[in-house]
Amino acid sequence: MDSFLITGGQRLKGRLAVSGSKNAALPLMAAALLTDQPVTLRNVPRLRDIRNMIGLLGELGVEASPWNEPGEPLTLRTTDPTPVHARYDIVKTMRASICALGPMLAGRGHARLALPGGCAIGPRPVDLHLRGLRALGARITLNAGDVVAEAPDGLRGATIFLGGPFGSTVLGTANILSAAVLARGETIIESAACEPEIVDLARLLTAMGAHIEGAGSPRITIHGVDSLHGADHTVMPDRIEAATYIMAAAATNGSLTLDNCPYDDLLAVLDRLDEIGVAVTPHKGRAPQRPCTVDVECRSRRLAPVQVTTQPHPGFPTDVQAQIMALLCLADGHSVVTEKIFPERFLHVAELQRMGAQLFRQGPTVIVSGVPNLVGAPVMASDLRASASLVIAALAAEGETRIDRVYHLDRGYETMETRLTALGAHIERIEAPATLSHPAPMRE
Ligand code: EPU
Repeated sequence: MDSFLITGGQRLKGRLAVSGSKNAALPLMAAALLTDQPVTLRNVPRLRDIRNMIGLLGELGVEASPWNEPGEPLTLRTTDPTPVHARYDIVKTMRASICALGPMLAGRGHARLALPGGCAIGPRPVDLHLRGLRALGARITLNAGDVVAEAPDGLRGATIFLGGPFGSTVLGTANILSAAVLARGETIIESAACEPEIVDLARLLTAMGAHIEGAGSPRITIHGVDSLHGADHTVMPDRIEAATYIMAAAATNGSLTLDNCPYDDLLAVLDRLDEIGVAVTPHKGRAPQRPCTVDVECRSRRLAPVQVTTQPHPGFPTDVQAQIMALLCLADGHSVVTEKIFPERFLHVAELQRMGAQLFRQGPTVIVSGVPNLVGAPVMASDLRASASLVIAALAAEGETRIDRVYHLDRGYETMETRLTALGAHIERIEAPATLSHPAPMRE
């Protein structure tokens, strides 16, 4: 398993373009199961999770275009609509495989998908997904670790409440939305996830012929249609990647120009950054709701402490909690970070402490007492965003940090070391000898 060797202390400086969003791309790809015509996706990030999804769709009779060259669109086309089993071997490598369930059921009347199982960031139940599909008329059973969903006579519209103890569910909303587009009659999803990735999915489904109102709000109305056709769609930029590079620039007191930045999707993050003392300024001529170019600059060398509470969109995203914690380790005072989506998502805490961070965790809250410097140390990446937080800490730390198990980062950040090197970071990938390199389950 590869490692990163990072010598901290270099100010990041330069220009970077935000990649396409991983979390948007995965359900968009699964939507190819809904039609036998080609679905072309542009700006798909070149990540391991995307390759995993191509592999899963391949097993389900969806052919992918070669997609070897950077910038090349990915075209997916169902050539064999008969397979209905997403096996554990694939699902266990990527929890987001669950987003194939709704489209497969709607398109084929039958779907069998291995339950994803445990996850590094805490419990990840799928009860809301199943409740939604049941409401659409599917018969759901469990068999040998697989969810089996059947609707041989098709799905029928219904009113479905998708709220759970931690808010709505993003992939659950994606699943029910993708299933309801082919259901008979009208479906109303109440307490739908409002994340921008759901809006992006609704855009693709609409381009494929679906009738959807209200995506991006807590109530989505879908008028079912008999069939969908192919479409050509550009994946939205990755708001989590953008936030990660902004935090990395801020932690090193750097200055960054970020192209293709989804500014309007990041308002909660920008609000916290503003209070910390990090200015993210859009270039002139920015059109509302459109990606734009922004400049990132610290207003002072001293960062201010803040309170951060993660919430469903448009609140502060859980996927940026670990990264902002790394930044707050260097603020001048005490910050409070509370995790309300995945209350156990704190694997980065112990690793940051190894680098000299002063962190005190009680349940879903961490008190961060800022220190003047972090100090490089050997640390272990544990999940995607925890790993990003360690990279940010290492870039700012004195001395050398070795981050082991960076395969987590490869799942969600395209060529991270190359891009950071271009910004002036001292970062090197140490490849594990082939014989020692065995892929571990990656589930978050
Ligand atoms: N939940 C339930 N029941 C369900 C589904 C979810 O109780 O049936 C709970 C979860 O346990 C959690 C909360 O609801 O407490 C929200 O989970 P959600 O279902 O929204 O998460 P997800 O859709 O599985 C996506 C992202 C995650 C991101 C979360 C929250 C993808 C592929 N994954 O997961 O991204 O953290 O939404 O925003 O879109 C990441 O990119 O690092 C990542 C983990």
